[in-house]
Amino acid sequence: MAHMYTKWLLLFTQFLVLFAKIGAKVPALIVFGDSSVDAGNNNQIPTIARSNFQPYGRDFKGGKATGRFSNGRIATDFISEALGLKPIIPAYLDPAYNISDFATGVTFASAGTGYDNATSNVLSVIPLWKELEYYKEFQKKLRANLGETQANQRITEGLHLISMGTNDFLENYYTLPRRQSQFTITQYEDFLVGIARNFIKELHGLGARKISLGGVPPMGCLPLERATNIIGGNDCNQKYNTVALEFNEKLRKMTVELNKELPGVKLVFSNPYYVFMYILRRPSLYGEL
Ligand SMILES: *[C@@H]1O[C@H](CO)[C@@H](O)[C@H](O)[C@H]1NC(C)=O
Ligand SMILES: *[C@@H]1O[C@H](CO)[C@@H](O)[C@H](O)[C@H]1NC(C)=O
Repeated sequence: MAHMYTKWLLLFTQFLVLFAKIGAKVPALIVFGDSSVDAGNNNQIPTIARSNFQPYGRDFKGGKATGRFSNGRIATDFISEALGLKPIIPAYLDPAYNISDFATGVTFASAGTGYDNATSNVLSVIPLWKELEYYKEFQKKLRANLGETQANQRITEGLHLISMGTNDFLENYYTLPRRQSQFTITQYEDFLVGIARNFIKELHGLGARKISLGGVPPMGCLPLERATNIIGGNDCNQKYNTVALEFNEKLRKMTVELNKELPGVKLVFSNPYYVFMYILRRPSLYGEL
């Protein structure tokens, strides 16, 4: 049985802190990733990785299940609003929106995807390379719509946010035999980091300068992992959490290197791990009764 993993609300506080600090003006939020930041792209492609039905969306405007894997808005919607942009980030494939809407914010994300092409194949969702193709098409439309100068400014000053990786481990590596037969877990982490590195370089080559790379949450604590951790008394799966910590550390190191390597880039690593863990361990501090 295929399953999907959602990251819930995360990232968010770190952005507010970061951008308050540098006082940067951000004219657009451009998003790549998985179900943590998909706002309905999967509704437009033939896949079962969808969330366009109740109880998803019950706290969204109009109680609408938009394709966000959430009861309401997702982290990137809040980030957009906090930056003084739109209260929601629309999905690039959603026919209800056009380039005028996307000019200040857009998501190319697809639930169930990952860094590895083999991950997006599992549920026939949009692979990362295709998200990048859509981004190139978006840039063309943006230039036609706003003119060269203003479009370039949106791209160089806009925040490019990347959020994925959980599915590569849980939906792919630990579920299917192929990657396990090719890579040890450490080698697989390195393989994914290499793909993330190339992806950031490609974004930089296309003009992006402000980039946030998200890490993975304590993925051993996702509901499905706890439900299936029967011998562990339905607590978090420690093995998966350890992998999350290791992988995040490799991503962080890679961003330090790329900040030196890529001219003019402001690349941040955003680590959702501890934020998440605090919420899980002390929910009463965060509004849960
Ligand atoms: C986008 O749609 C709005 C109406 O929903 C329309 O006013 C606008 O002209 C459209 N923009 C483009 C570039 O098609
Ligand atoms: C993923 O697939 C695309 C399209 O076939 C290909 O260009 C790319 O090299 C693949 N990525 C990796 C890491 O194999």
